[in-house]
Amino acid sequence: MKTRILVVDDDKLKRVTLKTQLEDDGYIVDLGENALVGLEKLKQQSYDAVITDLRMPSMDGITFLKKIKKLSPATEVILMTAYGSIENAVKAMKEGAFEYITKPFSYDELSIKIGRLLEHQKGKIQIETLQKKIQSQYRYHNIIGRSKIMQTVFDKIDVLADSDTTILIEGETGTGKELLANALHYNSHRKNNAFIKISCAILNRDILESELFGHEKGAFTGAIRTKKGRFELADRGTIFLDEIDDIPLDLQVKLLRVIQERVFERVGGERSLEVDVRVVCATKKDLKQMVAEHKFREDLYYRLNVVKIALPPLRERSEDISILSQHFLKKLTEEKKKSITGLNPEVEKIFLSYDWPGNVRELENVVEHAVVLGKSDQVSIDDLPDYFCEIPIQSKIFAVNTNRKNQIDLSEAISEVEKKLIIWALNQTKGNQVKAARLLKIPRTTLRDKLSRIEPPLQISEDDDSLS
Ligand SMILES: Nc1ncnc2c1ncn2[C@@H]1O[C@H](COP(=O)(O)OP(=O)(O)OP(=O)(O)O)[C@@H](O)[C@H]1O
Ligand SMILES: [Mg+2]
Repeated sequence: MKTRILVVDDDKLKRVTLKTQLEDDGYIVDLGENALVGLEKLKQQSYDAVITDLRMPSMDGITFLKKIKKLSPATEVILMTAYGSIENAVKAMKEGAFEYITKPFSYDELSIKIGRLLEHQKGKIQIETLQKKIQSQYRYHNIIGRSKIMQTVFDKIDVLADSDTTILIEGETGTGKELLANALHYNSHRKNNAFIKISCAILNRDILESELFGHEKGAFTGAIRTKKGRFELADRGTIFLDEIDDIPLDLQVKLLRVIQERVFERVGGERSLEVDVRVVCATKKDLKQMVAEHKFREDLYYRLNVVKIALPPLRERSEDISILSQHFLKKLTEEKKKSITGLNPEVEKIFLSYDWPGNVRELENVVEHAVVLGKSDQVSIDDLPDYFCEIPIQSKIFAVNTNRKNQIDLSEAISEVEKKLIIWALNQTKGNQVKAARLLKIPRTTLRDKLSRIEPPLQISEDDDSLS
């Protein structure tokens, strides 16, 4: 489909000249002599872009811009400003203008800006399409995943959510165990009742006991009033016992009873209380292994492990990395009011080869880091946390930032890569220049010479330059 542009300017000669130039470039162009005519056209027809003068008699450009954005949010606006009105142009950018161009300008200048605008729009559309796909196909509740293994998890949730079966969720840190527990509860008939979460990693055993089962007034020093425990609070709902592997052995007996019989007593109490709860628990460790090591009761293990759902680490489902990144990118750019539309190919490669020890949580944090620091419309390596610098050396060294550049200075780019290689070699050799020169297959004098030309000078740790 051809790009449709609306040009609004009260200067007739300007309008007509622009129309001819834009049409020569293959765009469909309509004209308006003022903002009111422009708005009428926008009501009848959708435009990819509006190029408008900032100062017009009937309505100023900023008011016009606000009305365009309200009428047609997807239409991008380029403002033409007189030399002295930069302040207004900045104000316009804050109101959502894509770009401004200072008069007088050459058509080439404008053409580059339009090119960028269309690229940006294309990126936005791609994200929206992917988002829609995520919404419909790759999402269960708030859990995103297109990998086969996650589709199996979704199938399991479908079958199991509405039953009262006890479920054990197993997975490394950050794999989404809590998210899954939420999905189980909110897709069950218990969804309008409580969803109570407790971590069994509470350091003090007595506190954990009283948190789980409650206590009677006077049960121990400080128990000034009766307190309900989490099991009681979860009555008719779901209790999520997180980090179940951390529960002390003697409390395991009490837990076994409530899971078996749905009956328990508060600490210091004699009355047996009955509850109707669904139990979901999560572990990072292999409970079976803990049973073998006598660190976890076997009978409790079998009670908890009626059905197990294993959440695989992210490195074993790399198909999910790109849609998860897009999902976090969208969420975080909206939150932080940034307009970053995707990852550049270099970052995509790094994300796929990295092994994500912190799993999805780590990915979310890395994307957040990039969104906060990012300056261009694609995430680049420079926006990633420092520790990513040490990851896939080859792909980093040869990465040249081409974002928002209309030209690349070849010798500058080569110097950039050369500098990265020198830093890499010195890192490899812990600063030993003789070894570094060997690694780069250049004479040591050449390395020295190159080092002396690097600006700002590198901080090299003292080396003895001897070959040990
Ligand atoms: N499949 C997923 N789709 C979308 N977001 C996810 C997914 N998995 C995890 N997350 C997000 O990652 C973060 C960590 O998830 P969650 O807290 O559920 O992990 P966890 O397994 O309970 O971690 P931990 O063992 O450290 O407690 C959360 O912000 C969660 O929303
Ligand atoms: Mg958790």
